[in-house]
Amino acid sequence: MGGTTEHAGNFVPVDERLVSFFVSLKQEKGRNHMSKIVQQDILQQLEQLQRDAQTALAQANTTEATREWYSEYLSRKGRLTSILRNLGSLSAEERPLVGKVANEVKAVLENALQERQAAIGQAELEAVRRAESVDVTLPGRPQKLGKLHITTRALRDIYAIFTAMGFQIYDSPEVETDEYNFQLLNMPPGHPARDMWDTFYTTMPGLILRTHTSPGQIHAMREYAPEPIRVILPGKCYRYEAVDASHESMFYQVEGLAIGKHITFSDLKGVLINFANQMYGEGRKTRFRKSYFPFTEPSVEMDIECVLCGGKGCPVCKYSGWLEMLGAGMVHPRVLQNGGYDPTEFSGFAFGMGPDRIALQKYGIDDIRYFFTNDARLFERV
Ligand code: FA5
Repeated sequence: MGGTTEHAGNFVPVDERLVSFFVSLKQEKGRNHMSKIVQQDILQQLEQLQRDAQTALAQANTTEATREWYSEYLSRKGRLTSILRNLGSLSAEERPLVGKVANEVKAVLENALQERQAAIGQAELEAVRRAESVDVTLPGRPQKLGKLHITTRALRDIYAIFTAMGFQIYDSPEVETDEYNFQLLNMPPGHPARDMWDTFYTTMPGLILRTHTSPGQIHAMREYAPEPIRVILPGKCYRYEAVDASHESMFYQVEGLAIGKHITFSDLKGVLINFANQMYGEGRKTRFRKSYFPFTEPSVEMDIECVLCGGKGCPVCKYSGWLEMLGAGMVHPRVLQNGGYDPTEFSGFAFGMGPDRIALQKYGIDDIRYFFTNDARLFERV
C-alpha cells in the first residue's frame, strides 16, 4: 500500500503510480476545460456564419452572384468547411453535438440557396419575357423590298422590245473556242482586228472567255440553217480591260441577228430606230456612223442623243452631245457561209449592244464600276 512520509518537512511521493494518477487527473480536467472553450467557439462561429451567409444571400441578385455565394460559404474551400476543420480539437463526446449543429446550419443554408436561386431564375425569366414580349397591337414595320439590278432591268426592257418585234432569245456559251470567237467571224489567227478585243485565255489551248456575244451568231446559224433567223443573244462577255468609268472586264452584251432572203440595211436601221424609240422615248435623235467589224460589211455604229444633257454636251457624253449605243452591220458573206447559209441567196444583219452602258445612260449613273460594288444605294436612286 502506497503512502507519504514526512522527511525534514518535504512531501515525498511514496507511490509513483498514485502521483501519476493525480497528475493525469489534473491534465484531464484542463483538457476538458479547454475543449469546452473550443466547442463554444465553434458553435459561435457556426452561428455567425449562418447569419453572415443569410445576409449575403439576400443581397445576391443574379444566378452568378449565388454561385459566388456558394463558393464562399458552402464549397469545399468555403467558410463552413474551414470551421469544421477544428472539430478535431473537440472531445469524442462533444464532436457529435457540434457536427449536428454544423449539419443543421449547412441544411438551412442549402435550402435558402435553393429558394433564392429559384426566385432569381423566375425573376430573370420574367425579365426576358418582358424584354422579348411582342405587342401585337403595334403596326408592322414596312419590309424593305429588294429591287432588280439596273442591268437586269435594262436587259428585261431589251427582251420585251425585241420579242415584240418577233425576235427569239437564244443562249450561247460564255467559254468559247478561238475558232468561234474569232476564226468563224472572219478573223483568222494573226488577223489585226483581234486586237480590238483584249482576250482572257484559259490554260486549255484554244479555249477562251468570249470577248463578245458575236460567236453566238455562228451557233444560232448552224442550228437553224437554212431556215430564216430572228434572234437576240444576251449574256456576259469578258475582256482584259483597263477598267474605268465606262469599261468593266466583265459586262453584258445583247447580240441581234436576222437572216433571211431579202434582208437589207434598211431593215437593220428600222429595227434599231424602233428599239431606240421604245427604250429611250419617242423622238430621241439617233445617228449612224461608218465603222469597221470583220464580221459585218458594211459596218456602222449607232449613237443616241445624250439622255442626260439632251444633246447640249456634258461630262457623260464627253461634251459631244452623243452617246455610243451599239455596233452593227450586214452579216459578212464569209460569216454567212461559215454559219451554213449561201450568201448568194441569203443576207442578214447583226448588231451588238452593251446593256450596262444603256443602263448607265438611261438612269444617269456616271460609273459602271458601281454595278459590282454591291452598294444597294445605287438602286434606291432609280
Ligand atoms: C463588239 O463587241 C461587236 N461584237 C458588236 C457587233 C455585233 C458589231 C454584231 C457588229 C455586228 P464592241 O467592242 O464595240 O463591239 O462592243 C459592243 C458594245 O459592248 C459597246 O457599244 C459597249 O456598249 C459594250 N462594251 C464593250 N466593251 C465594254 C466594256 N469593257 N464594259 C462595258 N461595256 C462594254
